[in-house]
Amino acid sequence: MIRKYTYGKPVQTDATVIPVSTASGMPAPFTVTETECGEIFVYEMDKADAVFGLGEQLRGMNKRGWIYDSWNYDDPSITEGRSCLYGAHNFILIFGKKMFGAFFDCGGKVTFDIGYGDPDLLTVSAKDTDVYIIEGDSALDIVKQFRTLIGQSYIPPKWAFGYAQSKWGYKCEADIREVFEGYKKNGLPLDMIYLDIDYMQDYKDFTVNKERFPDLAALSAEFKSEGVRLVPIIDAAVKVEEGYSVYDEGVEKGYFCTDAEGKPFVVGVWPGDSVLPDVLNPEARLWFGSQYKALLDRGIEGFWNDMNEPATFYSKGTLQHALAEVAKAVGKNLQVEEYNEVTGNFHRLANNPADHDSFYHNAADGRHVHTDVHNLYGYNMTRGAAEYFAEYAPDKRFLLFSRSSYIGLHRYAGIWTGDNCSWWSHLRHNIAMMPGLDMCGFLYAGADLGGHGDRTTEELMLRWLAFGIFEPLLRNHATQGTRDQEFYVFKNKRAFRDLLGIRYAILPYLYSEFVRCAKTGDMLSRPLCFDYPDDRRARTVEDQLLIGGSIMIAPVVEQNADGRYVYLPARMKMIRMKAGNRYTERIVEKGEYYIEVPLDEVVFFLREGKVMPLAKPAENVASLDEEHLTWLKFITQPAQFTLCRDDGITKSSLEKIETVTVEP
Ligand code: GLC
Repeated sequence: MIRKYTYGKPVQTDATVIPVSTASGMPAPFTVTETECGEIFVYEMDKADAVFGLGEQLRGMNKRGWIYDSWNYDDPSITEGRSCLYGAHNFILIFGKKMFGAFFDCGGKVTFDIGYGDPDLLTVSAKDTDVYIIEGDSALDIVKQFRTLIGQSYIPPKWAFGYAQSKWGYKCEADIREVFEGYKKNGLPLDMIYLDIDYMQDYKDFTVNKERFPDLAALSAEFKSEGVRLVPIIDAAVKVEEGYSVYDEGVEKGYFCTDAEGKPFVVGVWPGDSVLPDVLNPEARLWFGSQYKALLDRGIEGFWNDMNEPATFYSKGTLQHALAEVAKAVGKNLQVEEYNEVTGNFHRLANNPADHDSFYHNAADGRHVHTDVHNLYGYNMTRGAAEYFAEYAPDKRFLLFSRSSYIGLHRYAGIWTGDNCSWWSHLRHNIAMMPGLDMCGFLYAGADLGGHGDRTTEELMLRWLAFGIFEPLLRNHATQGTRDQEFYVFKNKRAFRDLLGIRYAILPYLYSEFVRCAKTGDMLSRPLCFDYPDDRRARTVEDQLLIGGSIMIAPVVEQNADGRYVYLPARMKMIRMKAGNRYTERIVEKGEYYIEVPLDEVVFFLREGKVMPLAKPAENVASLDEEHLTWLKFITQPAQFTLCRDDGITKSSLEKIETVTVEP
């Protein structure tokens, strides 16, 4: 059952797809206090309550014990003390004797204090918000109702489930060829190579640097014939440059965000002075989306949208002020306070709240200052691209994912979780984040494998890959200046080949379960307690996941470990897999065990009564043999599995779903 309450004047977010009429009274079980700054919703938690949700957020699966802001924010220093990341996913699920979900549908900032100020209180602060309270029979039922409310999740093309190599630092065609050859020569599977900002001319969206990439269309066609797609980045901000058609046209049509006087608001991003497409204006949104044509016409079929919180290094006004203050300080002896004042001007430049209060959108429901709709920006940028793709090739599925997001984006695209680091803690964080994302509809999701910043190691990379093969989006990406982390640079190439082999072998399972979950609102990756609600121990497990209906995974997340303790909430069959084509199996009873896991193996657990299809390892998705599947089984009676063997490319073929009966 879903009840909706409205406070103040919420902006139109288009997060939900099913109309729910507004109820009056208290949004029980919350009590509400109205203040000048908005509403405060309070729920007194039971000692044993866990709180799940919030999608892309810090800390563990169970969110209790910290304070979180929904405020899309670009800051690559993702440390434990932070309170927000790149997405605003305002759905929580209280899991305890009383079970309910709550969605705060609000374009601005929302704060979730989940036992931080007072360990027993859940306090949500928001202004101008719709609140949906969802009750149901179980956690899974509540999530399913929520996912139905917000609409079906995006389903990418099947090749987007292959392995991808990316790095900020591939500068030209020769660099891309080197990556392609590196994978090919070493027999390492590959489906995609990503193009970061250096493919553009002077960081101008929808342009290609002719010297570095003389013929992108030919390169893209050549790689595609070998089963590898090129996936370029698109940034939110548009360079200010007369003669650059995207800038000229946007200015002429009034499609950029404006200052109080109606002039385009100038911020600094990669190309220096830039303007922000007003993607909350439906006409401007589609216009910006239509710019992707420049690359679609070159045979490109996938994109990643970046810097769309929107991230700003400065605004023109604040930068000029900071520079002027420095000029005044030249030659002076600065005491610490003065020094901090002068340098602080620079520290405050990026993503400055004062800037957010200084520019405006002409949204579908009227003019809004950016602060009130901040969290909707990346969503609408990405939506514009998806809306245009649907015009460009109505039945075709494109790969599209975004860094910044709000609930609603999940219908149009996936997300990646931004600039993580090559830290073991970030591998654990990656695992813990997956169910929250899933609950909010973001099924096509993943983190930068191996870490984006800092220094990875061969061991971390292998362990991360052994988890990553169960994530829909499997992309090795790193920032410029970091050590090389393409798999072929490491010593034990065979181990990487073996683990990637497992990814392709389990792809029919992962893909079929992905499609089923996207269509039904079921969760693809789940905390153990969602399926074993009466098991108190299961509620505390933070580094194991149920993936699809048939399996449980328990990745190794410690340096120098030769295995790990695994908790089995029920009897399961342990599958020890090597290279995707060899495995051993053993039945293990409910309980806790130390399981050895060598670096080149993956151990997972098949649930009783379940089956799982397996293909042979392949060099890319195009060459995957889905006709000759074998089955992992833990059954005594015939079992059914919903197999999706569509063409992987068209929307219409997604209807081709077979229910296969597997004999014991
Ligand atoms: C941002 C992105 C990162 C990318 C970089 C350069 O930091 O999050 O993935 O490599 O910009 O485009």
